[in-house]
Amino acid sequence: MDPEPQTLHHPDPDELASSVASRLVEVVRAAQAQGRTPGIVLTGGSIADRIHRAVVAAADAADAADVAWGDVDWWYGDERFVAADDTDRNALQSRIAMLDHLPVDPSRVHEMPSADGAFGNDLEVAAAAYGQEVRSHGAGEFDVVMLGVGPDGHVASLFPGFPELDVEDTIAVAVRDSPKPPPRRISLTFPALESTREVWFVVAGADKADAVRRALTPGADVHEVPAGRPRGRQQTLWFLDQAAAGQA
Ligand code: 6PG
Repeated sequence: MDPEPQTLHHPDPDELASSVASRLVEVVRAAQAQGRTPGIVLTGGSIADRIHRAVVAAADAADAADVAWGDVDWWYGDERFVAADDTDRNALQSRIAMLDHLPVDPSRVHEMPSADGAFGNDLEVAAAAYGQEVRSHGAGEFDVVMLGVGPDGHVASLFPGFPELDVEDTIAVAVRDSPKPPPRRISLTFPALESTREVWFVVAGADKADAVRRALTPGADVHEVPAGRPRGRQQTLWFLDQAAAGQA
C-alpha cells in the first residue's frame, strides 16, 4: 500500500520552490550514488518557473558540485500541443528557466511532441509516440513526478469529468477542449503518473486551497478532483505555501 501523503508547509512560494529544489538535488544525488539515472517528470503552471529557477540556484551551490545533471532523464507530465517555440510550451519554459542553465544531456530531455513537430498536427499520433518514448527509454519507473494543481483540482492535463481520467492502459493521451487554454494537450495518464518512486504536488496560492482540501479528503472522487489520486510507490509529498494550505 502506498504510504499516506505528507504535507510540507512553507511560508511563501519562494520558500516552497527552494524546498523542492533542495529535495531534487538530494534525489538526483541518491539515485546516481546507486548507479541509476534518475527520471524526473516536470510540471507546467505558475509555480514551475520558480521551482526551475530554484533548481539552478541549488545546482550552483558548492554542495551540489557532485551532481551530474547530464545523467538525468527529464520528462514532462503534460504539454500544450502548440508550436515548439510557442511561449505556452512547458518544455520551452523549463529550458528558459532551468535546462539551458544546467549541463544537461540534450538526448535526455524528453519533450512531448509539438504541433509543428515530426508528427504534424496529429494529436493522437503525437501522444502515442510519447508513450512509446517513455516505454523505450524509461527505467520502468520515474524517480519523481512533479504535479501542479489547478483551482479545479486537475493535475497534468487530467481535468475533472474528462474521459482521460479513466484511461488505464496507455501512458500518454491526447486531450481536447481543455478547460485551461490552450485547448489541445498531451498528458501522462494516472498509471504513468503513478509509475514513480515519489509524487510531489507543488501548490501555491489561495486559489488552490479548496482543491488541496478536497484532494486530501479521504475518499475524494477522482472524477471531481483528479489531484486526489496520484500516489508515489515510496512517497507522496504535498509542498504547500500557507495560502494553498488554507492557513493564510
Ligand atoms: C499545465 C500544467 C497544469 C498546471 C496546473 C497549475 O500545463 O497547465 O501542467 O497541470 O500545473 O494547471 O497551474 P497554475 O499554477 O498556473 O494554476
